[in-house]
Amino acid sequence: MARPTVVVTRKLPPSVEHEIASRYDARLNANDVAMTASQIAEAMQYADALLCTVTDKVLAHHFEVDRRRVRIVANFGVGINHVDRGAAKKAGVVVTNTPDVLTDDTADIALALILMTMRRLGEGERHLRSGAWSGWRPTHMMGQSARGKTLGVIGYGRIGRALARRAALALGMHVIWYAPRDPVAPDDETAGPANARRVSSLEELLRESDVVSLHCPSSPETKHLINLERLMMMKSTAVLINTARGDVVDEYALAQALRDQVIAGAGLDVYEFEPAVVSDLRELERVVLLPHLGSNGIETRLAMGRMALTNLDAFFSGTEPPNRVV
Ligand code: DGY
Repeated sequence: MARPTVVVTRKLPPSVEHEIASRYDARLNANDVAMTASQIAEAMQYADALLCTVTDKVLAHHFEVDRRRVRIVANFGVGINHVDRGAAKKAGVVVTNTPDVLTDDTADIALALILMTMRRLGEGERHLRSGAWSGWRPTHMMGQSARGKTLGVIGYGRIGRALARRAALALGMHVIWYAPRDPVAPDDETAGPANARRVSSLEELLRESDVVSLHCPSSPETKHLINLERLMMMKSTAVLINTARGDVVDEYALAQALRDQVIAGAGLDVYEFEPAVVSDLRELERVVLLPHLGSNGIETRLAMGRMALTNLDAFFSGTEPPNRVV
């Protein structure tokens, strides 16, 4: 029987590509250039599966193409806001993602961004590299200590809780959290710190927190959840961390808030129009900008690849893919 054709939209770690090619007619992307919308449409017609990433927008018209052959979209990543799930469901296409395996890495990056912004580490590095450092002095580049401060976590799923555990244990922070719906009951290992307190509104969280960290999915309800009005509810000493999705924050409002010292700083790993980053943000010192590195540990990227492959294997052997979201 002919092996199913799998279009792999971006370059994956070599051992993952090797495994895919050993089981499927794999169409790899050796040049690693993001596919265009029309290339994705063509792939929907000649492939049986699409193994895609956050850089591929798989939209309603892709699911509606004439003579569509793709029956499964296996995403390499947990966030699937770039795949039109409603259209996939309507077309009867299965969609899977790669949860859990990237929780720790992403929470680590959020923790790193907390320290980078509070202790001004990005600024410090730029200062030294520019040759401007004139030596140690007590008042040089003073930042803020994390111990005893309040971390407000918006969205209390796996990654939000993993950050909460780290911030409580490693940094001695108090944790409060807000989620509009009850999160899925965690087991002991994935629970937040015992004394984390749920607050009843987003506004309460914004007013009380010294660090606000975003861990909610991107959706029409969360688009620009953090706008100028909400930034103005934060303490002037507070910092905002975003490792979730860029469009949860109105980046122009954030730049204005930073410029006008409405808040003290921001640490970002994701952007609304990535890889483009609004120039207003790039020009500001008090913002740390990372290029979407949340899950970049090699061990994690291998685990994500294996998980995407497990989902494909299950689907093509006629069983339920373990990480099916549609
Ligand atoms: C994720 O897994 O959602 C990462 O942000 C990459 O897509």
